[in-house]
Amino acid sequence: MTQQFDKAAFLEQLDTQWLGHSVIYFEELPSTNTYLKKIASQELKQGMVCLADHQTKGRGQYERTWESEKGKNLTFSIAFFPAKAERFHVLTLACALALVEQLNELLNASCAAIKWPNDIILNNKKTAGILAEAVFTGNKFDRLIIGIGININQQKFSPEINDIATSVSNSKGAKINREHFLAEFLRRIEHKYTLWQQQKPALIKAINRNIIGYGQWIGLEIEEVLQDELYKLLGINEKGELLMLNRDGGIETFTHEQIKLVTS
Ligand code: BTN
Repeated sequence: MTQQFDKAAFLEQLDTQWLGHSVIYFEELPSTNTYLKKIASQELKQGMVCLADHQTKGRGQYERTWESEKGKNLTFSIAFFPAKAERFHVLTLACALALVEQLNELLNASCAAIKWPNDIILNNKKTAGILAEAVFTGNKFDRLIIGIGININQQKFSPEINDIATSVSNSKGAKINREHFLAEFLRRIEHKYTLWQQQKPALIKAINRNIIGYGQWIGLEIEEVLQDELYKLLGINEKGELLMLNRDGGIETFTHEQIKLVTS
C-alpha cells in the first residue's frame, strides 16, 4: 500500500535552523533536481527542499535513470547557495556521510558506507544515490542542487537491479517512517553543512574513514581504461579530489569525472 508523504508531520518533527523550513511537495514530478534547476533563482532560498512521491524522469549519475517505487521512498533535492563555486564534491560527500551515520545508528551496526563517488551502500547493496548539479546564470555560479534518492520502504526492485539494490526497511526488517527519517536526515545534513563551510579537517577525515576501499589497494579505471596495477586509496583532499598512491610511490590526484574505483 502506498501512502502520501505527510508534509505537516514532517515539518512538525523537523529540528533545523534553516534546512527544509521551506518544502515544495509534489505527488508527481519528472525530477526534483530538474525542478530546482529550472525554477527562477528569486523563487528559491538557501535550504529549500523539493520532494516528490513519484518521479517520472528521475535522474542518476552518468545519465542513468533513478528508479523508485511511488510513495515508498524518499526522492528529494535541496537548493544550496554557497558563497563560492568550489569544494562541491566535499559537500556531496558530507551529505553521504550524514546518511551513513544515520543508517548505522538506526540499524545499530557498521553496515553502511560510501561507495565513491556518490553512492550509499547498505549491507553491500546500494540503498541511496546522490546527484549534485551546479546551476549557472551565464557564466556566473548561482546555486548547487543536491538531489538524493533513498530506498526506504521498497521491497522489490526491477530484475536489472534486484541483485544490487536494497532499502532501509529491508535491512531493518520493519517499515520506516519517511517523515521522521527525512527530518532527522536534514538535521544531520545541516550540521555537516556548517562543518563544510568552516572547512573542518574532521569532516574530511570522517568521510575518508567511511569510503569503501579506504587504505586498501584496489583496481582503478582512468578515463574508462582499467589500469594494470593496483592503487592504494588514500582518501579525498579538501577539494574533494581523490588521492591514489601508485606502485611507484607517487600520489596521483583525480576528480570524480576521471576515474572509477574497482573494489571487490
Ligand atoms: C545515482 O545514484 O545515480 C544518483 C541518484 C540520484 C537520484 C535523486 S532522486 C531525487 C533527485 N531527482 C533526480 O532526478 N535525481 C535525484
